[in-house]
Amino acid sequence: MTMKYVEFGRTGERVSEMCLGTMMFGVRCNETEADRILGVAIERGVNFVDTAPMYANGFTEEILGRIIKGRRDKLFVGTKVHKGIDAQSVLESIDESLARLQTDFVDLYMIHWPIQGMHPQEIMGALNEVVTQGKARYVGCCNYPAWLFAHSNAIAERNGWPPLVCNQVAYNLIERGAEVEILPQAMAEKVAVTAYRPLVSGLLAGKYKAGQTPPTDSRAPTSSRLLTWLSQYGDSVDRFNQFAGERGVHPAQLATAWVRYSPAVTSPIVGVSSLSQLETSIGAFEFDLSDEEYAAITHFFDTEVKEEGLQRFPGKLYNFPRLRRNLNLIAAD
Ligand SMILES: NC(=O)c1ccc[n+]([C@@H]2O[C@H](COP(=O)([O-])OP(=O)(O)OC[C@H]3O[C@@H](n4cnc5c(N)ncnc54)[C@H](OP(=O)(O)O)[C@@H]3O)[C@@H](O)[C@H]2O)c1
Repeated sequence: MTMKYVEFGRTGERVSEMCLGTMMFGVRCNETEADRILGVAIERGVNFVDTAPMYANGFTEEILGRIIKGRRDKLFVGTKVHKGIDAQSVLESIDESLARLQTDFVDLYMIHWPIQGMHPQEIMGALNEVVTQGKARYVGCCNYPAWLFAHSNAIAERNGWPPLVCNQVAYNLIERGAEVEILPQAMAEKVAVTAYRPLVSGLLAGKYKAGQTPPTDSRAPTSSRLLTWLSQYGDSVDRFNQFAGERGVHPAQLATAWVRYSPAVTSPIVGVSSLSQLETSIGAFEFDLSDEEYAAITHFFDTEVKEEGLQRFPGKLYNFPRLRRNLNLIAAD
């Protein structure tokens, strides 16, 4: 199976189903290895790359800038606004990113995180300026609740500004909050959803086992969250690894295949720290899970988001928790 190309929201662009995440470039892999990873990803059909100024304090973007030289026109590159999100941050951050990336424009420019007390009107206005100046082709966001996404786009529409086209969110077998509102919104409004952390920071990559010390050569020693997840879900991880073995696929492939099973997900973001990891992980795009496999794997984790006592109307028609998750609640056009 060759790499699929998928519609990127309402933009009319087509991107590879796999988005290459660069967060480990300059952190757990050096520039030479990053260059090899990008080269093989492109050979295998990947044209979608995700980065951010926050990664290694700008060093990741600098590396990417050097290694995309001569390949820029083959790529759809997305970056984000650094920590602050007032108009000034939005306008300054893009210039800094373009300088580090050594490019005149990015394809996608995203707000990295919503912050309490933010001003969506000001932010959307600044994003409009970035697009008007030709520094970004499309704008999007990460980690926005669905209502904030809709609110921001209502502002954009009232002002004739470019809308947010993409929401980048954590989505994996353990973190499933996006199933409530964000993924159904993506189906209804044709929002591109890029799913980060598909392997739960590597927890589902086959190297972690319940009750065992995590490998020292991994992100675990610097990630307390990973250790917490391992202690909480260790038994599920063991069952998941066993299932992958029986299915004859690598756990990293199985975990990403689970994410891409959702029709609401545009592109899982594959983050790797070596070429050999990429060569394995990219295999997730070469097979599809059956409905039975998907259900079995989901069941191992039992992480469905529980609703706030809304079981007053049990049954098919008025089961509110189900309605909220229903990707086909609105009839197709
Ligand atoms: N917008 C946001 O807020 C946000 C937040 C986080 C990430 N992101 C984006 O999403 C991307 C992916 O995030 P993530 O790195 O947390 O994703 P992830 O897929 O959950 O974890 C990636 C880690 O899994 C391990 N791994 C990957 N493939 C493997 C393989 N084949 N065999 C063994 N181990 C493997 C590696 O861990 P080791 O390094 O330990 O070997 C790798 O660093 C990032 O690069 C970034 O672009 C965005």
